[in-house]
Amino acid sequence: MTTQSLLILPGDGIGPEVMTEVRKVIGWFGENAGLSFDVSEDLVGGAAYDAHGTPLTDATMARAQEADAVLLGAVGGPKYDDLDFSLKPERGLLRLRKEMDLYANLRPAQCFDALADFSSLKPDVVGGLDIMIVRELTSGVYFGEPRGIIKEGNERVGINTQRYTESEIARVARSAFELARKRDNKVCSMEKANVMESGVLWRDVVTEVHAAEYPDVELSHMYADAGAMQLTRWPKQFDVIVTDNLFGDLLSDLAAMLTGSLGMLPSASLGAPMANGRPKALYEPVHGSAPDIAGQGKANPIACILSFAMALRYSFDQGDAATKLEQAVEAVLADGLRTADLMGPTGGTPVSTSEMGDAVVAKLSLG
Ligand code: IPM
Ligand code: MG
Repeated sequence: MTTQSLLILPGDGIGPEVMTEVRKVIGWFGENAGLSFDVSEDLVGGAAYDAHGTPLTDATMARAQEADAVLLGAVGGPKYDDLDFSLKPERGLLRLRKEMDLYANLRPAQCFDALADFSSLKPDVVGGLDIMIVRELTSGVYFGEPRGIIKEGNERVGINTQRYTESEIARVARSAFELARKRDNKVCSMEKANVMESGVLWRDVVTEVHAAEYPDVELSHMYADAGAMQLTRWPKQFDVIVTDNLFGDLLSDLAAMLTGSLGMLPSASLGAPMANGRPKALYEPVHGSAPDIAGQGKANPIACILSFAMALRYSFDQGDAATKLEQAVEAVLADGLRTADLMGPTGGTPVSTSEMGDAVVAKLSLG
């Protein structure tokens, strides 16, 4: 078997410190499970801007295109707030998503039993929760033209455009239906067909793809605002949710918080299959760069560790290794180990970022 390549982009804020813990996990799989990767590292976001004056160099972009998978930490920080829009750390991430054409962003919201008390909702509402948000990631209002701030008479006007083609909607709908077949076989599609033409088209295309290719999957539609309300009322009614770029941004933060902490949740952004049959892919935690706690050993490395588990599953065809890693994380939580973001009503043993990483690795060795 040829060695598979993994490009690591730690980025900014807590990105580098959570990535250090992932490297321990990668090292463990190399030494103990015969899974070795050709790992290389590069800069993205503010770190790339500081070194090269751009949030993503062409050379890094090219390496990302060639890698079997990319694992990113986080980008952004207050230091870069005043930069021109085109140079902001976030542009580095958006360029990766767009140029790799990573149209399907998978954001699981899973409630770990040990953390059910942690949610702001009642434990019986969130206990056992396991939903998957599939967010369209390369189009919509994030990228639509025209955009900008223009002058009209003597006032400024801010413009962004929501735009979706049929094929963009159809391909992300297929991703959602395929995933649903491996889960509870239910998809809920969310848009605002009551006020937006792009929402009308979204609903039509999802309905057509369903009828033609996935009639066995249960499909429902919801306006995105009602979807937000239902997600907080009774989230367990959902299995897979498919939605556009902007609604997906909002709804995935909402769904993530149902589980208690953003520090727990991974994501995968997948594109079309490469020559090896696996999708082009970038994995990253749902959380941001958390500059306020960066460098203090307070960050929770679990979201980034679980992002690597998703890479094992979706890019490297190592579903068993992924499950083993997820179980190690669960076991560590069940033991009561808690990084600062997880210190709540039920107490627990406070641990630092690196102690949490070490504990996960120790569990891997046990099982
Ligand atoms: C996310 C983030 C990004 C987004 C930012 C950092 C550009 O909020 O991944 O959800 O808005 O997509
Ligand atoms: Mg977001």
